[in-house]
Amino acid sequence: MQRVFVSALLETYAAFPFVLDHGRGDRVWDEEGKEYHDWYGGHCVTATGHAHPRVVRALADQAARLLFYSAAARLRVRESAAEALVDFVRGAGVEKVFFCNSGAEANENALKLAIKQTGRMRLAAFEGGWHGRTLLALSVTDDPKITAPCAPLLAPCARLPFGDAAALEAFDFSRVAAVIVEPMQSMSGIRCAPPAWFQRLRERTAAAGCWLICDEIQTGMGRTGVATASELLGIRPDAITLAKGLASGVPVGATLLGVERAAAVQPGDLGSTFGGGPLAMAALIATIAVIRDEALMARAAAVGARLQESLPGAQVERVHGQGLLLGVRTRGPAAALKRHLFDRRLLVGVSSDPSVLRLMPSLAVSDESVAALESAIHEFQGNA
Ligand SMILES: Cc1ncc(COP(=O)(O)O)c(C=O)c1O
Repeated sequence: MQRVFVSALLETYAAFPFVLDHGRGDRVWDEEGKEYHDWYGGHCVTATGHAHPRVVRALADQAARLLFYSAAARLRVRESAAEALVDFVRGAGVEKVFFCNSGAEANENALKLAIKQTGRMRLAAFEGGWHGRTLLALSVTDDPKITAPCAPLLAPCARLPFGDAAALEAFDFSRVAAVIVEPMQSMSGIRCAPPAWFQRLRERTAAAGCWLICDEIQTGMGRTGVATASELLGIRPDAITLAKGLASGVPVGATLLGVERAAAVQPGDLGSTFGGGPLAMAALIATIAVIRDEALMARAAAVGARLQESLPGAQVERVHGQGLLLGVRTRGPAAALKRHLFDRRLLVGVSSDPSVLRLMPSLAVSDESVAALESAIHEFQGNA
């Protein structure tokens, strides 16, 4: 029986109907001891799985050594984390990093730098894009239920159709400080566009002196099978933003810049008391080491490819996305499949498209969880 209790928390989110107690790898357990396969990954966060022993040990060791010091002091762990991250994402052409605490803040920082360096006061983004809830991030987000209440306070932002080649040619990027784009639009249902479209976006923005910011808060950290989706798409943005999987669940965001943009940053341009804190830095170093040592990018690519083949059937029209950022497009309402999966102890995400469920599990998702998902979805569509 579900326990009903009164919470002091504001009701801002429709939570799972249980109280979560603990997690290990790609599973979580509720307070009653029920086990779930976690294909939601705490909203695309648990890159190395729940409580990976190396991440836990790195946190414990760092906590015992130095729990916190701000950017006022140089810390070896922060320098090492920056070096490890820049090396990890090298294929996207970014070379310097600023650490903050969340995805929204990482985007806010990138947009702010673009505004300062170009002197332009307009932004551009795409229909269906989702970038966070702080004011500049909200200005570029296409989600009227959260943008409308603040509409008069938002920065001017042109909104272009995602993946539309003609719109790209018609738009004048020379009046715009930055255009921000998700390499795969997650919230709106894992919407993809061809690499050639992204490459043309890069060409047009570069020619107009407009920053291209790739919001890789979901697609980064190896989730698509490559360190960044920018690398996969063959583009070198002015800035890349990361968060979610960066430190396996310890809050951290990162704004990464190409060398030219980084050279123009001045002391005081960005700041954050908690950004780059030693706990997050230790978890980040361990996360990158686990992704490399356990070949999790190859794992993400292989499992993603398998599910794109194995899941479609009578009720699942197709599976789109790349690696372990997948949209399961249903022929009927996706909510019915979500309920079916929940009843079989499989957690998945929804999207703003009522026909798309999202899969964004640990990159180390087990064969057992893959088989459990396949068999539950086959059962749903009568091809068990
Ligand atoms: C693509 C994308 N950008 C930005 C954000 C905002 O990140 P945060 O919730 O850490 O502020 C999210 C969060 O879901 C996201 O999916």
